[in-house]
Amino acid sequence: MKKKLFEELSFNHGTKMSNRIAMAPLTNMQSHDDGRLSDDEYKWLTMRSDAGFGLTMTCGAFTELNGKGFPGQLGIHNDDMIEGLSRFAEGLKRNGSLAIVQLIHGGMRAGEELTRMQPVSASDLPKYNARGLSTEEVKSVINNYIEAAVRAEKAGFDGVEVHGAHGYLLCQFLSPTLNSRTDQYGGSSENRARIIFEIVDGIRERCREDFNISVRLSPERFGMKLGEVIEVARRLLLEEKIDFLDMSLWDYRKEPEEAEFKGKSLMSYFTELDRKSVLLGVAGKIMTAADVMNAIEHGADFVLAGRAAILHHDFPLKVKSETDFESVKLPVSRDYLKDEGLSNTFVEYMASWDGFVAA
Ligand SMILES: Cc1cc2nc3c(=O)[nH]c(=O)nc-3n(C[C@H](O)[C@H](O)[C@H](O)COP(=O)(O)O)c2cc1C
Repeated sequence: MKKKLFEELSFNHGTKMSNRIAMAPLTNMQSHDDGRLSDDEYKWLTMRSDAGFGLTMTCGAFTELNGKGFPGQLGIHNDDMIEGLSRFAEGLKRNGSLAIVQLIHGGMRAGEELTRMQPVSASDLPKYNARGLSTEEVKSVINNYIEAAVRAEKAGFDGVEVHGAHGYLLCQFLSPTLNSRTDQYGGSSENRARIIFEIVDGIRERCREDFNISVRLSPERFGMKLGEVIEVARRLLLEEKIDFLDMSLWDYRKEPEEAEFKGKSLMSYFTELDRKSVLLGVAGKIMTAADVMNAIEHGADFVLAGRAAILHHDFPLKVKSETDFESVKLPVSRDYLKDEGLSNTFVEYMASWDGFVAA
């Protein structure tokens, strides 16, 4: 089993990953104010791509200014970003890791204090001060995702991930409670998912043949209905336009919240789908070597590590050399995180995550 972990894995459009441990996308707030790559962000992520991750994903990078959801977030919204992104791609790939940019529009979660614009969403949502996008504007959002992917390709990245999870704009479209549109992007579950499929189709058309495209979905919270998310996943797998589906579960062992789905793991609803040539990655509390093997034994093709990758820049090497490796116990000190390559800004962001940083 361990041997299989460190064997090459091929994606259906041609790229390869040298092992089954990927770095999950992690917002780190270290970019320059205008979205350009900073030395801090370059250092933190290349330290990880150099240390065994078969695939290294950037944090969610905003596809347009009105989609910026965090201070110090990486931008991919205009051509001024390409210079930094090119340096980033080159660095991330220098030791054989696959380099992927995650693409995000924050929607109602992109605050006016950052963007100086009113937040937008699938529909008017006064609670979030958000206004619903017109059909024309939805087309423009789709186009901006596609243009961002083209920029990623130009910069030398191996692919992009479309962020359809965690309550950001695409997830707001998927949500039956947040999306009350009456055009082709609202109503039926198929209509609410249309924006994701049009983005994937557009990227596939515009980028080179072996460009790696993935979609991240999260099946719970933010009004998601598990049954509907399973259907979106099923279609993404059947159509085979993406290379991998990234399921963000927050805990790969958990059971679903919805009563009718209880009795088996949330992950199993996705591992049991016919995935054709598409690979399935899972994220959520992969903290030990046993977790990595367990998730794969239970049907995932590979894992994405988030917090374990923050705690151990060389998590894959640790898993390879120690069968019983476990991530350090939380909370950790600020100095510990600085030694792991996080800047002060990122350390302070991690301090806002419950129980991660010692007081
Ligand atoms: C500090 C931090 C930043 C994150 N940023 C992103 C992000 O930019 N995009 C995303 O899809 N998920 C993001 N996530 C979620 C992670 O990718 C991952 O799915 C989640 O942390 C569960 O995995 P873990 O238990 O291994 O950390 C973030 C999580 C953390 C802890």
